[in-house]
Amino acid sequence: MATVVEPTNENIRSLAEVLRDGGLVAVPTETVYGLAANGLDADACRRIFEAKDRPAYDPLILHLLEPGWIDRIAVGGEAVARLAERFWPGPLTVVLTKKPIVPDIVTAGLDSVAVRVPSHPAMRSLLAACDVPLAAPSANPFGYVSPTRAEHVVDGLGDRIDYVLDGGSCQIGVESTIVDLRDPERPVLLRPGGVTPSQIRGVLGDRLAVGETASEVTEAAQAAPGQLSRHYSPKVRVELHHRLEPAALPDRDTDEALVFLSRPGSPDLPSHWHWLSESGDLEEAAARLFALLRELDAGSFRTVHVELAPEEGLGLALNDRLRRAAQRSQSS
Ligand code: TXA
Ligand code: MG
Repeated sequence: MATVVEPTNENIRSLAEVLRDGGLVAVPTETVYGLAANGLDADACRRIFEAKDRPAYDPLILHLLEPGWIDRIAVGGEAVARLAERFWPGPLTVVLTKKPIVPDIVTAGLDSVAVRVPSHPAMRSLLAACDVPLAAPSANPFGYVSPTRAEHVVDGLGDRIDYVLDGGSCQIGVESTIVDLRDPERPVLLRPGGVTPSQIRGVLGDRLAVGETASEVTEAAQAAPGQLSRHYSPKVRVELHHRLEPAALPDRDTDEALVFLSRPGSPDLPSHWHWLSESGDLEEAAARLFALLRELDAGSFRTVHVELAPEEGLGLALNDRLRRAAQRSQSS
C-alpha cells in the first residue's frame, strides 16, 4: 500500500531520489494530483501507463520548474513567452513542437509535447530537487474522476504505487487549460480548465480557436466502437440539468442525489441535497466538484442530478467535466 508523506525537506529529497531512479510518485499540483515519473526516462514513463491502465495513445504533460526549461525539451517562441509571463506558474498547459530528447511514450508518438509550470509549492520543491521535467497525468485509474486529495489517490492507485506526496486539497480542483501553440498564429483551445478562454484571449487576441483534444482525435481513430472518450466518469449515473428547481423536487430521502450549484434558499434541506458552493462561486464550485462526485459515488444512489454552471469563465471547465461525467451513463 502506498505511503503518504508530508512535504518536508527530507522527504522531498528522498522522493526526488525515487524519481531519478525511475520510480513513480503521486504529487500534488494546484489543479489535481498527478502521477509523476522522470519525463525523459521512457521506462519510468511506461510505468505510469501501467499503473493507470492508460492507453498508450493518450500523451502525457511534462511539468517544468521554470519557463526557461522549455528549451531543454521543446521549441518555444513569443506566444508561449507571453502566456508564461501572465499565467505561469499556474493551471495552463501549452502544446509545442517537441525536441528529440522527449521519449515517444510521453507524446504517444506525436511530434508535439504538452508542458506546464505548476504553482503548488510542494510540487515546485520536488521539481527543483529532481532537476528533470516530470511527466504526470492525473493520478487516477484511467477514465475515473481526477483526485484532488491525497486520500483520493490512495483510494484509486494505493495498491499500485509506493508514494503519495500530501500537499493538501488542490486549490483549483479541475485540470489545467490546454492550448495548442504549435502554430502561434492559430492557437487552439484543446481543454477548458483553470485559466479561462477570455483570459487567454486577453493575451493572444481573438484568434484563439476551440478544438478537440489529441486523445479524442486519436481515440476516435484507434479505439473499438463504443469505447470512446469516457473520461472523468464516476460509477453512478449522472444526469445534467440547466436548472434544478427546488420547488419541483421531492423532499423525502430517495435514491437520487441532487447537486445544486449554490445553496437552495430554504432552512431545512434534505440530506440528499448538496451544493457546490454556498454562494454559487465558480472557483469554489470547481474546487469541490471532484471530491463531491467521489463522495456521492461511494453512496448507494441510483442517479445523481447535477445543475450545470453558466457557460462562461470557469463554468466552461466545470460543464466540460460534468458532461464527461455524464457520458458513461449515456453510452452504457
Ligand atoms: O492539470 C493538469 O493538467 C493535470 C496535472 C496533474 O498537471 N494533468 C492532467 O493530465 O490532467 P492528463 O494526462 O489527465 O491530461 C493530459 C491531456 C491528455 O489526455 C491529452 O489530451 C493532452 O493532455 N495532451 C498531452 N499531450 C498532448 C499533445 N502533444 N497534443 C495534444 N494534447 C496533448
Ligand atoms: Mg486525466
